[in-house]
Amino acid sequence: MHSFDALVLTQHADGSVHPAIEQLTPADLPAGDVLVQVSHSGLNYKDGLAVTNTGKIVRSFPMVPGIDFAGTVIESQSPAYTVGDAVVLTGWGVGERHWGGFAGMARVTADWLVPLPAGLTPKQAMGIGTAGFTAMLSVLALEEHGVTPDAGEVVVTGAAGGVGSIAVALLAQLGYRVVASTGRTEQHAYLHELGAAECIGREVLSAPSKRPLESSRWAGAVDTVGGDTLAGLLRTMNVGGSVAACGLAGGGHLNTTVMPFILRGVNLLGIESVNCPLPRRLLAWERLVRDLPLAKLEAMIEIAALADVPHFAAAIVAGQVRGRVVIEL
Ligand SMILES: NC(=O)c1ccc[n+]([C@@H]2O[C@H](COP(=O)([O-])OP(=O)(O)OC[C@H]3O[C@@H](n4cnc5c(N)ncnc54)[C@H](OP(=O)(O)O)[C@@H]3O)[C@@H](O)[C@H]2O)c1
Repeated sequence: MHSFDALVLTQHADGSVHPAIEQLTPADLPAGDVLVQVSHSGLNYKDGLAVTNTGKIVRSFPMVPGIDFAGTVIESQSPAYTVGDAVVLTGWGVGERHWGGFAGMARVTADWLVPLPAGLTPKQAMGIGTAGFTAMLSVLALEEHGVTPDAGEVVVTGAAGGVGSIAVALLAQLGYRVVASTGRTEQHAYLHELGAAECIGREVLSAPSKRPLESSRWAGAVDTVGGDTLAGLLRTMNVGGSVAACGLAGGGHLNTTVMPFILRGVNLLGIESVNCPLPRRLLAWERLVRDLPLAKLEAMIEIAALADVPHFAAAIVAGQVRGRVVIEL
């Protein structure tokens, strides 16, 4: 079998973590019943934390990071997949506990894979990636809690990032009036292109307040930022409104009161993509194919090489990546 390039994180005795491209063979890969030739992998915030060693993401070293990938099955001991099948993987601790997608090949458990959704190329699937999959789970949660386009405005925080960009495009396509909250005024034109009706500065929601409730504005929210932004959202939700909380780009703390919940019936919906069960995964991918305009998706994607991962990892942690970076293997 041919060797392939992989980005390998190794930990030195002083605790520091170093990324380097190494040549591996399939014999180096961990156990699993399906061997995939990886064609594309997405760069997600969690990958940024792993590669820059700024969060406790990687559980053991050496580690091949990359929490998602798309590719073609080249060996299978599972009845679920045969050689030549196009597949996608997001989550399940891949790139954290199990070697991941920043490599020419990956060996994984068949149960972690889904077939490449019909209508998407592997590049488009990773343009969506974990970020887009999480945006779709967030939209599904809002829908399931009665947030319809005629219920009122929806706001997306961290809007110019990966989850945010796809959430804006999805919600606009579904007919919602979408307000994009961003710290980058230079991305307003981009966000309007994706379908945002209005852009607001990130300080609008994150400004400190001693009041438990403020003027209500939002029927729904997709929050990728957490921290003071999530607290601000909770204070400004409409009666019966829902927040899909999926991220912590602005912090993991939450300083709030029970008032939004007991006086306005606000719903705080937790979104978790890693262990999402298979039927809901398939539903989310089906809805992404149906509801995400491919022209908008293409406009979000920047293609990069394996050698560029350390650069983009630092950039995504610094909040400087727009949309989605797709690594072409
Ligand atoms: N729950 C899950 O299963 C799940 C899955 C995927 C991702 N996530 C989480 O979702 C978040 C977004 O992931 P992503 O891949 O979309 O990352 P991303 O592309 O970096 O997007 C995050 C965005 O948040 C904003 N931001 C960054 N730093 C900020 C700060 N200090 N204060 C306020 N806003 C800030 C920026 O948007 P603007 O410049 O537009 O303000 C940035 O583009 C991350 O926290 C990630 O861990 C969770």
